[in-house]
This record gives sequence, structure tokens and C-alpha cells, in this order.
Amino acid sequence: MWKGRDILDILDFTREELDGLFRETMGFEEGRKEGSEALKNGLMSLAFFEPSTRTRMSFEAAMMRLGGKVMDLGEMKASSVTKGENLADTVKMLDFYSDVIVIRHWLEGASRFAADVCTHPVINAGEGMKNHPTQTMIDLYEIQREFGKIDGLTIAVVGDIRHARASASLLLGLSLFDVKKIYLIAPEPLRVRSEVKDRLNAAKVGFEERDSLLGVVENADVLYVTRVQKERYSDLGEYERVKNSYIINDDVVKKMKPDSIILHPLPRVDELGVTVDKYRQARYFEQARRGLHVRMAILESILGG
Ligand code: NCD
Repeated sequence: MWKGRDILDILDFTREELDGLFRETMGFEEGRKEGSEALKNGLMSLAFFEPSTRTRMSFEAAMMRLGGKVMDLGEMKASSVTKGENLADTVKMLDFYSDVIVIRHWLEGASRFAADVCTHPVINAGEGMKNHPTQTMIDLYEIQREFGKIDGLTIAVVGDIRHARASASLLLGLSLFDVKKIYLIAPEPLRVRSEVKDRLNAAKVGFEERDSLLGVVENADVLYVTRVQKERYSDLGEYERVKNSYIINDDVVKKMKPDSIILHPLPRVDELGVTVDKYRQARYFEQARRGLHVRMAILESILGG
């Protein structure tokens, strides 16, 4: 479907292409599909310059479930990155050894730079504060699975909208659909950045910035929550001031519509209470579980027959 293609930015894809991916993902979710021969001989390399649990492990699981193999650059202190090797030289080696390179980096543009250096496809597994295309594919797939559609829904994005690449990337992804309305709930220091806002305006997406959940949780179909991104703060005092701006707890869930859902890219810290897990609205673990199938469909699309 996307043979040989890099996955760098959700806006490199059309909604028709995403619909196609969702159909492929369903095949894996329902056990109707399995990896093609090309995958069985495939080797994927992982280069994570920032911590990760779900993204790294689910890419690894996806490749192995498809019959392929995986190698991991590992912790930076175990590789020549500590000796001062530059990114181009590091990824060039991975390009020699493997068929696809999955990269996570703190620097915006790192994956596009890697893609320029590599002959094999590069997948951006989250970089800087803007792009996390495969997480967005997972988020959109989960919404599609829960509601049977994305168009016409009211989506509230809550938390560190300024620094969380998962929410920025989701907003870019939602701009490809005809949602009814997007609420951006964040205190002043965590508000959406202008580059994301500009895209929403250009795509004529109806959105509203608010600093309170009041009047929004009652109407939202999807509440998308992110953690305050501690690692982006040079001033930890500033982090302490904003870290508990919004806490999704039982009281908040009780105000939500019965058929609404709560999503979170995870990991969660204090912004989403563990007591919320028992409600039917809590769909973040299902979102993470289905993430495996989405990543299988992505790998099959770019490496398959
Ligand atoms: C996110 C990330 O790294 O951007 N995690 C993920 O990929 N599921 C979210 C986060 O760290 O808050």
C-alpha cells in the first residue's frame, strides 16, 4: 500500500490513505491478516534517543508478530553516540544493516534528516514537540473504532498542548477530517502553539481555546488527555506550577456523556486518576492495545508485498 514510504508527519497522508490503513488494521485486529513473505525476512532497527515504553515495545512486537526481526541501538550510553558520533553516521549504519529504521528524537526534523540519509524507509516514532504520526494513526483508529466515524465529533484536547507532540500531531491529523468542534483546554503557559493553530485555521477546523473544563466535558465525545511534559521544562519551578492544572477524576467522568470516551497516549502521571480506569469511558488501554495492530498494518504497508 505504502511500499518504501517514510512515515514522518501525519500531514504527509490524506484521509483516504488513513482510511485504507484503518481497513488493513482491522484485518490484523480480527486475525484475518498476517505478515507477507517480505516481512518474514525483514529486519527493523530501533534508534530511540528519548525514553519510550509503548512505542518502542509495540513496534518491536508488531515486527516480530509479522515474522520479522528487530535490532535495537539501545541506550545511548551503550552506543557510539556517547563518543560524539553524529546522527547521520549513526543512522547510515542502521540503513546498511536493516530494512526499516524507527527513530525517536528530541530534535524536530531529526527523522526527516535521517530519511534523507537512508535508502530504506524511516519511521518517526515521536520527535520534538510536534510530530508523532504513528501515535496519531493509533488515536484516529481508536476514535474510528469507537464511533464508526471521526467526522461530526466534538473533541476536547486537555493538558500540555504546548509541549505534548501527541496532542499537536493529533490536532494536525484531525484537520484532515470534518470534526464538529475541537476544544483546546489548557492554562496560558500550556496553550497550543501558533504553527498548529495556523494549520487548524487553514483547514477551517472550528476550534476554541478555554482554560476550564467546565461546559466542555459535558459535550465532548472524546476527551484526549496528555501529561505535562516535564522533560521540556528548563525551569522545574514552572513545571511545578502547571503540573496539576487539570486532573481527570471520578467527578469529571460523571459529568461526561455515557457514550463519550477518554483517550491518553500514555504514560500518565497525576493528570488521569487510576480510579477512572473502571468507567466505560476509559479507553486508553484499549487504544494502546490496538496500537499494536496499527503498527503491524504500517509495517506491512511499507515493507510488505
Ligand atoms: C508520548 C510521547 O512520547 O510523545 N508517548 C507515546 O508515544 N505514547 C506521550 C508522552 O510521553 O507524554
